[in-house]
Amino acid sequence: MAIKNVQPSVGLSKIAVSETHGENSPYFAGWKAYDENPYHEKYNPHGVIQMGLAENQVSFDLLEEYLEANQEAASWGKRVSCFRENALFQDYHGLLTFRKAMASFMEQVRGGKAKFDPERIVLTAGATAANELLTFILADPGDALLVPTPYYPGFDRDLRWRTGVEIVPIHCESSNNFQITPEALESAYDHARSMNMKVRGVLITNPSNPLGATIQRKVLEQILDFVTRKNIHLVSDEIYSGSVFHSDEFVSIAEILESRNYQDAERCHIVYSLSKDLGLPGFRVGTVYSYNDQVVTTARRMSSFTLISSQTQFLLASMLSDKEFTKKYIKINRERLRKRYEMIVDGLKKAGIECLKGNAGLFCWMNLSPYLKEATKEGELEIWKTIMEEVKLNISPGSSCRCSDAGWFRVCFANMSEETLEVALRRLHEFMDRRRRYV
Ligand SMILES: Cc1ncc(COP(=O)(O)O)c(C=O)c1O
Repeated sequence: MAIKNVQPSVGLSKIAVSETHGENSPYFAGWKAYDENPYHEKYNPHGVIQMGLAENQVSFDLLEEYLEANQEAASWGKRVSCFRENALFQDYHGLLTFRKAMASFMEQVRGGKAKFDPERIVLTAGATAANELLTFILADPGDALLVPTPYYPGFDRDLRWRTGVEIVPIHCESSNNFQITPEALESAYDHARSMNMKVRGVLITNPSNPLGATIQRKVLEQILDFVTRKNIHLVSDEIYSGSVFHSDEFVSIAEILESRNYQDAERCHIVYSLSKDLGLPGFRVGTVYSYNDQVVTTARRMSSFTLISSQTQFLLASMLSDKEFTKKYIKINRERLRKRYEMIVDGLKKAGIECLKGNAGLFCWMNLSPYLKEATKEGELEIWKTIMEEVKLNISPGSSCRCSDAGWFRVCFANMSEETLEVALRRLHEFMDRRRRYV
């Protein structure tokens, strides 16, 4: 039976009928436009190109090569007893071999500069579940989490919808390259307090924010000092840490804690997942890594709702324990992402468009503010709609990331072939030539 969006006559819970699911946003509307008319170079060359989806498809060949050479990792082979063991395994601690492999991979993507204890790794079905689970543990309904803008549009769903927690933006602005300043932190905190909200923590995304840029050590130190002074938590979503083009430009909160001898570390929690670095969002593999024993225990209990299949754990335990493979993968993946980034930034420049200087991730942060008919959110949505309908590109407007400056867009470049990226850039170039005549 097809699902119709009509008002049901039988009542539902407050969560079910609330509007805090966050899906009423151009970010999700763009996906729908793509789904209805997806680009295909041969069968639908005038379709919509999806540049709103942060998927990493540039290194699939390396994963496939590994699977080809290690078929026992992906299948059970002759080991029926192994199949039975895994078919029955549902312990929420997860497979120890997998937790060890995850810890070691997390160390490797941080260039060996931070240590992770497998006992502190709580497995979850992706970072989505990890972020929600942590929010449930750190805050009560009506409490606030402070989140720097622009932020991942999914947070409006993940952190708020089922938990009842509020997001209070820490406004970062283009005038200082969207840096998180001590003043912006204080001002967000004061704003939440003025609304009678209890502030429970700050959630940063490093380098997973729409900017595609890492947070500098000095800024991380300031944020850590801030949360310590206010006696609140710090969640660091580091799901793109292996996709920083030059590993030495990434500083994990784990590194800072280590340099401080883990003083006050119990207020810090890291979220990680394999969705971006390994390009496996469909495998649903994430983790909460907390320095707080009580959070680890509670998160582990709660992870019962959102476990990773033992089959997936089995496969990835083998892949991530293969140091030779992971070393090669991380290196080549980084090089390819950097090349893609240079390709898009170069192409946009030729079309007369500037981007924020980035050094990580699967997207760039593009500035169309000089081309808005009016410098407002409405002006931003006007150009977004035109690009979607006429140019047939789905890009994410900054307002869907709660950006306070109008005219910025997140543009993904790693979920398509180089040829498709060239088509997208060509379309954008032609559009800009037309647009300049009118603005
Ligand atoms: C900052 C951030 N956190 C979490 C997620 C969700 O990741 P996962 O697929 O691991 O649930 C995303 C996905 O785009 C993201 O960008």
